[in-house]
Amino acid sequence: MTSEVPARNPERPDRNLALEVVRVTEAAAMAAARWQGRGDKESGDQAAVDAMRQVLDTVEMDGTVVIGEGEKDEAPMLYNGERVGTGRPPQVDIAVDPVEGTRLLAEGRPGSLAVFAAAPAGTMFDPGPCVYMEKLVVGAEGAEVIDLDQPLEDNLRAVAGAMGRKVRELTVVMLDRERHDDAKRRIRELGARLNLITDGDVAAAMLAAWDERPQVDVLYGVGGTPEGVASACAVKALGGRLLGRLWPRDDHERQAALDAGYDVEVVLDEHDLVRAEDSFIACTGITGGQLLRGVTFDRLGATTDSLVMRAKSGTVRSIRARHRTAKLREYASVRY
Ligand code: FBP
Repeated sequence: MTSEVPARNPERPDRNLALEVVRVTEAAAMAAARWQGRGDKESGDQAAVDAMRQVLDTVEMDGTVVIGEGEKDEAPMLYNGERVGTGRPPQVDIAVDPVEGTRLLAEGRPGSLAVFAAAPAGTMFDPGPCVYMEKLVVGAEGAEVIDLDQPLEDNLRAVAGAMGRKVRELTVVMLDRERHDDAKRRIRELGARLNLITDGDVAAAMLAAWDERPQVDVLYGVGGTPEGVASACAVKALGGRLLGRLWPRDDHERQAALDAGYDVEVVLDEHDLVRAEDSFIACTGITGGQLLRGVTFDRLGATTDSLVMRAKSGTVRSIRARHRTAKLREYASVRY
């Protein structure tokens, strides 16, 4: 008698890769957290990269890093183009940010995260030479009313209207940068509440896109393009909207973008940045902030706080995990 493998039921729920890769962000966060407040951005980042790389190879996937630590000659690990995972299907594009908010971590400030996002191969936007993009992010309630071609004031009024609120009841989160001085003044004149952050616009985008988390309603401003792609994975899962436009800093950068075939005028949304529904994002808090608790250590090990999101199903999971010291040693580049 031959035993037959049952045919795969197409209705059967398929794999949620993010549930597996949350181990990757947990490992990165635990390794990085040892560097909290030590004033050393590079070492914190390196510890996270080492830990992330180590765990990544245990994940069943054939991944290519599309958004990583830079080009191969400047980043020995997790460089753009590097292959990660076991090499077996699924084939996926990967965006990693082992420490999103390196300065936050180095200065011991709230809000740094370890981030990992994945989408089917060939579907993630490649930022190329475009370092920055303008971003406007809202949750599902405001998703249909925003338009990056319209003035910021009109957008904020429209979002407030869609949410059934007054503009003064709206909270806008923005990176605290000189380039935002004009936007800052206009938001204040309009009477909306402003939440200025020193770094970390991925966590801010998640909060803005997440209607059930009322801390902030809108993210506006110019931030990293790679961070925009990771944010798009989360926005898709949360059902919000991210509108963006590439933001060259000067004529030289504009020309480099044009030469590489980028349109710097067009408005992109979360579906342009990640052109597939089967995308995932996992993130773990390093230093505690508005989105996630930070890593805590105790006599027995460490505790982490993570989020796992999948666009296809719209599932958002919150995972608190307890880790034993023995496991931590494997991930850490510092002594315990
Ligand atoms: P790093 O972790 O790479 O330092 O990025 C932090 C960050 O604040 C991002 O969240 C944001 O998109 C970007 O930097 C803004 O860039 P800049 O600090 O150059 O304004």
